[in-house]
Amino acid sequence: MSFIRSFNYILITITIILNVYIFTYPSLDTKQCSWNSKSTYLQNSNPLVNYFKDLYSLYFGNLVPEDITSFEKELRLMAFGDPQIKGNWPSTPYLKKLDTYGNDYYLGHIYKVMKNRLNPTHVVALGDLFSSQWIGDSEFFNRTKRYVTRLYNQPEEHIVPILDYISKNEQVDWIEYSNDLKSKNLEDFNWEYQEVFDWTTADYSKKFAKTPLFLNVSGNHDIGYSGDATWQHMARYNKLFGKDNFWIEYNKGTPQAFRIVVLNSLLLEGPALQPEFLEYTWEFLYKLFEQRFKGSTILLTHVPFYKKEGLCVDGPYHEYYNEETMKSEHYKNNLLRSQNHLSQDVTQRVLNLIFDESEKYPGIILTGHDHEGCESYYSLNNTDYSWYSTSSKPRNQPFVKEITVRAMMGEYGGNTGLLTGKFSQARNQWDFHFSLCPFIIQHVWWFTKIISIISLFTTSFIVIFNL
Ligand SMILES: *[C@@H]1O[C@H](CO)[C@@H](O)[C@H](O)[C@H]1NC(C)=O
Ligand SMILES: *[C@@H]1O[C@H](CO)[C@@H](O)[C@H](O)[C@H]1NC(C)=O
Repeated sequence: MSFIRSFNYILITITIILNVYIFTYPSLDTKQCSWNSKSTYLQNSNPLVNYFKDLYSLYFGNLVPEDITSFEKELRLMAFGDPQIKGNWPSTPYLKKLDTYGNDYYLGHIYKVMKNRLNPTHVVALGDLFSSQWIGDSEFFNRTKRYVTRLYNQPEEHIVPILDYISKNEQVDWIEYSNDLKSKNLEDFNWEYQEVFDWTTADYSKKFAKTPLFLNVSGNHDIGYSGDATWQHMARYNKLFGKDNFWIEYNKGTPQAFRIVVLNSLLLEGPALQPEFLEYTWEFLYKLFEQRFKGSTILLTHVPFYKKEGLCVDGPYHEYYNEETMKSEHYKNNLLRSQNHLSQDVTQRVLNLIFDESEKYPGIILTGHDHEGCESYYSLNNTDYSWYSTSSKPRNQPFVKEITVRAMMGEYGGNTGLLTGKFSQARNQWDFHFSLCPFIIQHVWWFTKIISIISLFTTSFIVIFNL
C-alpha cells in the first residue's frame, strides 16, 4: 500500500469520527441533552452503551415525542441565549466574511440536530439575535433573512411573508408606526393571546406538522438599551419579530393552566430616549397583573434580575451616557447606556407583578444577556416583603428559579437550553426542570467541514489516478 493510501485512510477515519460526533453529539450526554422524562433506559453507567441505546431510540424507538399540540401534561421548550450574528461590510476582510457565513450554519446545525432529536413544543431565542443595535434597516433585514433561513430554518409557509417584506428593501415606516401607537389609549393595547400553536394561522391552531411555536424576545442588540431605543428600532422589530411584550395563556381555567410571558426588559427603566416606551412596558405589566391568572408562569426575558455581586459572572452594573460617551449624539446625555441586571427596585416590582401567586403556582424565569450562564433563586421574605436572590435552592420556602441561559455563540460552546414542564397529578401543579446541552466550540465544526472536503479530494484523486 502506497504512503498516500495509508495517509488517506487516516484522513477518512478522522473525517468519519468527527462527522459522527457533530451529527450525534447529544447522544453522548443524554442526561443534559434530553427532556427530563421518567424513562430509565438511559441510566446505564457505561457511557458507550448509553450512546448506542440513545441513538437506537432516536431512530427506531420513542425518543422523539410526537405530540406538539397539547400541553395538558408536558411542555418542552428549547431555549437559545444570545446568538448575536454579525454582519459583513464592504471593508470586512475575506476570512472574516467566511467566518460569519460559516457561523450561521454552525448555529443552524445545532438547531436542526436538537429540534429533530427532541421535537420541542416551543422554541425561544432569548434576545440579542443580532450583534449590534447600530445597523440600518437594510442590514437588519439581511440579518433577519439569515436568521429565518440559515439559523432557525422555518417552514416555507412561515417565512414567505418575512422574505417578501425584506425583498422590497424599503425603509421601515416608523413614523406611521409611532403615530399609530401615540394615537392609541393605553387601555387599547392588546398583549394577550390564548392557546397559540402557530403564529401564521388565523386562529393560531397548528397547521404545519412538527413545527414548534417560535417565541422572540428582544435584546439590547436588537432594539438598544432604553437610552438608544428609537421608534425605528421598535417598528422594524415589531414588523419582523412581532410584539416585544405579550403573554400566552394555555389550559386556562383548568388545574393545568400555565402562561408564557415575554417581557421586553430593556424598556423598564431609564432615563430613556423615548419615555413612552417605558410607559407601554409598565402598562403591560399592570395588565398582566390584573389578570389574576391562576396557573404557573414561564417568564422569558433578556436582562437578568438584580442579584448581588458574585452570584453570577455579571455583577450589578448600570452605565449612563455622559460628555465622553455620547460622542456626537448630544441628545443622549444622561440616558441609560447599558445595564447588566434590572435595578433592585425594578426587580422587586416586576417579580411582585408577575409572580404574586408563586407560592401556589410554581414559576420559572429564563434570561440571556450575560453569555456565561447562571442559576439563581428568588424568594420572598415574609418580614420585609422583598425578593432575595440566592445561589442555592431555599429550603422550606417557595421560590422562583431564574436561569440565565449560557450563550449559543461558538465561543461559549453552542449551547441549547432545555426546559421540561411536567404536570404532576399527585401534587396538582407544574414541575419545571432545566438542563443545558453544549455542542462544541466552532473550530471543531469548522475543522470537520474542512477535513471532509480534503478527504473527498484526496479520495477522488486516488481513485482517478489509481495511486
Ligand atoms: C442587503 O442585501 C441586499 C440584497 O442582497 C443588498 O442589495 C444590500 O446592499 C444589503 N444591505 C447591506 C447593508 O449590506
Ligand atoms: C418570531 O420569529 C420567527 C422567526 O424569525 C418568525 O417565524 C415568527 O413569525 C416571529 N413571531 C412573531 C409573533 O412574529
